Amino acid sequence: MKESSLAYAKINISLDIISKMDNGYHNLKTIMQTVCLFDEVTIECSPGEGVKVKTGLPYIPNDARNIAGKAAVAFFDASNIKGYKTEISINKKIPVCAGLGGGSTDGACVIRLLDKMFNTEHDSSSLERIASSVGSDVPFSLYGGTKLVEGRGEKISKIPPLPHCYFVICKPPFSCSTPELFGLVKCEKIRARPDTEGIIKSLEKNDINGVARRMYNVFEDILPRGRQEIAEIKSTLLDNGAQGSVMTGSGPSVLGLFTDKTKAESAFEQLKDTYKDCFLTETIDS
Ligand code: C5P
Repeated sequence: MKESSLAYAKINISLDIISKMDNGYHNLKTIMQTVCLFDEVTIECSPGEGVKVKTGLPYIPNDARNIAGKAAVAFFDASNIKGYKTEISINKKIPVCAGLGGGSTDGACVIRLLDKMFNTEHDSSSLERIASSVGSDVPFSLYGGTKLVEGRGEKISKIPPLPHCYFVICKPPFSCSTPELFGLVKCEKIRARPDTEGIIKSLEKNDINGVARRMYNVFEDILPRGRQEIAEIKSTLLDNGAQGSVMTGSGPSVLGLFTDKTKAESAFEQLKDTYKDCFLTETIDS
């Protein structure tokens, strides 16, 4: 049995941290959006046992420590399926540790593909439970599109879709550890927060400028390093006509939102020689 699919990256239009929960995780309020930047995931199952993940990248684990491998193990456990050797090949285009949900989208893709291959017909809440056990951003990646995501990442609500637009996404050449960044959060000290309701109202009115000028990520004020470089990328994006710019997820990638493709192309041209991980992409539906 062999199946393939594309696994799309996500960006955070806004990211707010409401409180710390007793289990150590944080209660989030974030608007996520799928963009047309993707990994290619192929799964092959044959009689035997074990899960292997091939990415061709030496710094990514090649077994169940990889989020795609972990997703396969969680899926088989939840479905009571045994006796299959599983090989997952991932052609990675989404940069890792970038705030673009690359690992999470691969994990969600594996769950969807295995559900199809084994005809397991899990209902959506069962798939969400499996996804949630793999990682906080994995449930969103099962659906994609434009969603309000709350709690640890498991509460997903439909909101009006972001009108079609372009994003220039640029990852500076350093990484942010998500657990380290969450460890630095002191909820009572967060002074500026995104206007999430204002963004949702703008989406209801199809007002993309209203969305763009409200984009905000509380992690930007907590970053232990790299703020100067992030500010410089933002300036380049805004100087080239972005209607708004924000860091995505736990960073360090920065995005600029454009409705004008020509302006997006010129911002991309300005940044692409300095930054190896620079992309011109656009919205894609769920
Ligand atoms: O769930 P996931 O493995 O993606 O989370 C990585 C780390 O991010 C967790 O260990 C935790 O430190 C932090 N986290 C959090 N609150 C969330 C999501 C993640 O504190 N809602």
